[in-house]
Amino acid sequence: MRNPRDFTKPLAIGAPMPLREIPVTPSRVIHFFDPSNESMAAKVPALAAQSDIVLGNLEDGVPVERKLAARDGLIRVGRDAELSGAALWARINALESPWALDELTTLVGEIGDRLEVVMVPKVEGAWDIHYVDRLLAQLEARAGLDRPILVHAILETALGVVNVEEIAAASPRMQGMSLGPADLAASRRMKTTRVGGGHPGYVVLADPDPDAADGVRAASQQDPWHYTLARMVDACAATGILPFYGPFGDIRDLAGCEAQFRAAFLLGCVGAWSLHPDQIEVAKRVFSPDPAEVAFARKIVEAIPDGAGVHMIDGKMADDATWKQCQVMLTLAEMLASKDPELAKAYGF
Ligand code: GLV
Ligand code: MG
Repeated sequence: MRNPRDFTKPLAIGAPMPLREIPVTPSRVIHFFDPSNESMAAKVPALAAQSDIVLGNLEDGVPVERKLAARDGLIRVGRDAELSGAALWARINALESPWALDELTTLVGEIGDRLEVVMVPKVEGAWDIHYVDRLLAQLEARAGLDRPILVHAILETALGVVNVEEIAAASPRMQGMSLGPADLAASRRMKTTRVGGGHPGYVVLADPDPDAADGVRAASQQDPWHYTLARMVDACAATGILPFYGPFGDIRDLAGCEAQFRAAFLLGCVGAWSLHPDQIEVAKRVFSPDPAEVAFARKIVEAIPDGAGVHMIDGKMADDATWKQCQVMLTLAEMLASKDPELAKAYGF
């Protein structure tokens, strides 16, 4: 049993108070960079100007011999780079790795005032979050920080999916979660070598047509990530934290990337990762509500000012629940428009 009142107290003497609400700021795109790559790190200010979040990746994708260079490169970005209002996040190595402890200690000590969120990979259960939670509190106290660093878990193991609700509810420090389709595929022994997206083998066939001589039947690809994503969205929404689609690895397939991001947006996700500058624009467009939807939502809210009763609007039934759906759309549009003048214009705010 945990005393519910303890959720509002710091886990170390002198650490900042836990947040009661997760801040909702533009989070349509988390752009990943490798801080051990100097030319990539030099481009971070320019990419930050187009992104909502920039994330220094220390984990997979960074070779073992460059782990320390990546950590030091991220500290330099955190100290010196002009990020045009984009949030700075870090993806640390897995908790079982030889690097995670030093990464947390060094990052919080050196750039804890700049770092908003630590992304923790391969989270399997609430115990992983509890470990990071207490350690961050100790480090924040030592560094004299005045606001807590938040935690974002990657959902990328079968056990993590089994425990997704407990992970989401493990701490007031939990900011959100991302689907990690590559590691999850490996953990589940799925037979795909792709990073996210569909697969031509994962289909349903149309019924056989007795009159078709050739017997060819239409096949429709299904989304192998639907189940996990929907569970993750429920776990996040139920605990007031933010769900994200993760990576889409086929950088040249911008249409496939857009379709996968859009399915995640419609299901409730707030954003996705970008692994290449070309994906930034796709994510920002997809995770910003469509101006026509925003206009329709505004029409409904104006037609039902008290949000009650049943109404016919453009031939469609609208009631209290429709009003709430429209508020979701409008609140998001207003939040994004307040930071993005072009969107404000598109929405007519
Ligand atoms: C991301 O980390 C993934 O494994 O897909
Ligand atoms: Mg992974």
